[in-house]
Amino acid sequence: MGNKLKELVKELIKQPITRVIIIIAVLSVFGSAGWVLAKTQQVPEQPIEFPHNRHVALGVQCLYCHPGAWKSETAGIPTQNKCWGCHQQITKESEQLDILKEFVKSGEPIQWVPVAIVPDFVKFNHRPHIAYGLNCETCHGEIGEMTVAEPQPGFNMGWCLNCHIQESGDNQEMFTKLTDCYTCHH
Ligand code: HEC
Ligand code: HEC
Ligand code: HEC
Ligand code: HEC
Ligand code: HEC
Repeated sequence: MGNKLKELVKELIKQPITRVIIIIAVLSVFGSAGWVLAKTQQVPEQPIEFPHNRHVALGVQCLYCHPGAWKSETAGIPTQNKCWGCHQQITKESEQLDILKEFVKSGEPIQWVPVAIVPDFVKFNHRPHIAYGLNCETCHGEIGEMTVAEPQPGFNMGWCLNCHIQESGDNQEMFTKLTDCYTCHH
């Protein structure tokens, strides 16, 4: 499904705008699996109930665990090694930390369920957004007050475009770039 949609998007961005609008309306029932899950906005069950709120309250920075958000396309989720750097020194008895210990022992990657996701035919890159000065919370909600990350409403084309149009203001050059199909699809 993902690949077919990708081909379609490639085809569409060469078409006149009126046809595009009709086809998008028809298409909008489809999507890739993780993305559809995020769209239902239910909080998925995670392999470990990772409490964002308690770690952020300790003063751990978002970028300590998601350094890619500054440097590259994907933000990244820390591996158990990063968790273990702190947790090997924490003796607290806890069922959730026992699960973490098992992952450390086995070395198996932790299969976190994505909640912040767009389909693979969309090109999103954190870097220009962070460099521009946007906060994580603008797009992801108050993660620092959540336990496991919760899906946010939006994360669709209208959401991206709304902000791009708003931030462009009277800057025609910026407007043209940020609303061009090729900026987000190719
Ligand atoms: C600012 C970024 C952005 C721009 C500019 C943009 N898109 Fe999209 N587009 C997205 C995102 C994100 C999605 C996936 C979420 C969705 O479907 O709303 C998407 C989805 C789509 C889809 C699939 C529709 C669906 O609902 O499955 C089509 C087709 C599409 N875009 C075509 C276009 C065309 C044609 C243009 C130019 C007129 C364009 N896009 C401009 C971000 C963008
Ligand atoms: C900077 C150090 C640090 C890092 C990195 C870290 N933690 Fe923690 N974590 C803590 C501290 C401190 C606590 C609070 C312990 C307490 O309540 O006494 C905690 C609490 C927890 C708890 C709650 C335990 C309970 O039941 O009360 C879980 C689960 C947890 N961490 C999982 C993780 C996972 C998974 C990772 C890696 C993705 C991770 N932590 C990374 C320091 C860290
Ligand atoms: C302009 C909106 C926006 C801002 C600002 C933003 N994000 Fe994201 N984030 C997204 C979108 C859209 C995705 C989905 C990307 C995808 O599926 O390719 C995402 C995905 C993620 C993911 C999961 C997938 C990945 O990239 O590894 C993490 C973790 C994440 N963001 C953390 C952060 C952190 C931390 C910050 C602040 C430093 C931040 N984001 C700022 C929009 C944003
Ligand atoms: C101690 C490490 C740690 C810190 C600090 C941390 N996160 Fe996370 N983050 C994780 C882990 C582990 C996950 C995967 C579990 C989940 O989705 O809740 C995650 C998931 C996410 C996701 C969803 C990713 C996806 O795949 O959909 C977003 C968005 C996110 N974090 C943003 C933030 C923001 C914003 C901050 C700062 C306010 C922050 N995180 C601080 C470890 C951390
Ligand atoms: C809250 C506002 C906001 C949201 C939401 C947002 N963006 Fe952006 N985006 C910006 C701003 C502002 C810039 C311009 C940064 C600059 O020019 O320095 C930008 C730049 C970009 C660029 C780089 C353009 C270039 O060539 O320089 C891409 C690609 C992009 N956004 C894609 C997306 C996609 C895809 C989404 C939705 C999934 C999205 N953005 C959601 C504000 C936003």
